[in-house]
Amino acid sequence: MTVAARGLPARVRIHEVGARDGLQNEKTAVPTSVKAEFVHRLADAGLSTIEATSFVHPKWVPQLADAEQLFPLVAGLPVALPVLVPNERGLDRALALGARRVAVFASATESFAKANLNRTVDEALAMFEPVVARAKAADVHVRGYLSMCFGDPWEGAVPLPQVVRVCRALLAMGCDELSLGDTIGVATPGHVTALLSALGSQGVPVDALGVHFHDTYGQALANTLAALQHGVTTVDASAGGLGGCPYARSATGNLATEDLVWMLQGLGIDTGVDLGRLTATSVWMADRLGRPSPSRTVRALSHKDPQEQ
Ligand code: HMG
Ligand code: MG
Repeated sequence: MTVAARGLPARVRIHEVGARDGLQNEKTAVPTSVKAEFVHRLADAGLSTIEATSFVHPKWVPQLADAEQLFPLVAGLPVALPVLVPNERGLDRALALGARRVAVFASATESFAKANLNRTVDEALAMFEPVVARAKAADVHVRGYLSMCFGDPWEGAVPLPQVVRVCRALLAMGCDELSLGDTIGVATPGHVTALLSALGSQGVPVDALGVHFHDTYGQALANTLAALQHGVTTVDASAGGLGGCPYARSATGNLATEDLVWMLQGLGIDTGVDLGRLTATSVWMADRLGRPSPSRTVRALSHKDPQEQ
């Protein structure tokens, strides 16, 4: 049953990260053809923004070393296909294949900047500066991820001003949108509201913000609802709840796209996603990976008697 709640948006744009954040942590190489089929199925299920892969150093993320082979297999889809690029080398590789959307990925903490990018926070920002400038000059859309916005496995709770500073730096260099990452999934709703309020009070417009929750402590949906109540309308999620970050201890799966769509449908919020097709895709992917999806919604819907659905 659909029951709307006050103070929520009419529509949410889901930024699907299953093919990138979802797969990057998989130990066994997933064949390129399977990744391509995954992206095609996600598009068929109605997802309009599908993060396809990363043009990072192949030794740092071996699972995505096939970016050059994968991207042409999905480039023709009528959806937005952002890709991660850490530096100019990554941007060159992405532009050579015709990518129209890229994402740089900063950290609010020094420990993760070092672990993920082999740089300090400010050295990483300096690395992104020419990437963003060149992308904008080529009329390419740029997303700026910010990891460890709430807690960091090495440094603990992350002070709000530290997060605000890096957000402002990313916007100042020309990022079109930001994604606030709870990389290790420790945030709770009050913390989400406090961060969004702090950003708003420092002049960061809420329509430039997306949220990216990992579900380690089962808080991702509650955190999403808090963000929607604050005016956020872009939410990152990963089909089937796949995911994690190879450079952050204790980063488990992302918010599952199916769990998100179930909640949004119940609230009468439009996403354009066909939940049945999406669930079938995650069941198919779980078969390829050889283990069941951690998404509660995938499990509930895929075990249901067809007559009940
Ligand atoms: P580095 O070792 O400092 O690299 O790594 P470098 O700049 O010193 O270059 C060393 C060599 O790598 C050079 O080759 C470069 O050409 C090559 P050589 O001259 O020695 O022959 N190289 C590259 N090759 C291919 N593609 C490239 C590239 N760049 C340099 N793009 C680097 C620095 C940034 C490259 C490395 O740290 C890296 O690739 N890191 C990526 C880590 C990553 O992808 N992490 C996961 C994504 S972030 C995440 O999951 C969080 C998120 O989901 C949000 C959240 O949850 O919080 C987004
Ligand atoms: Mg992530």
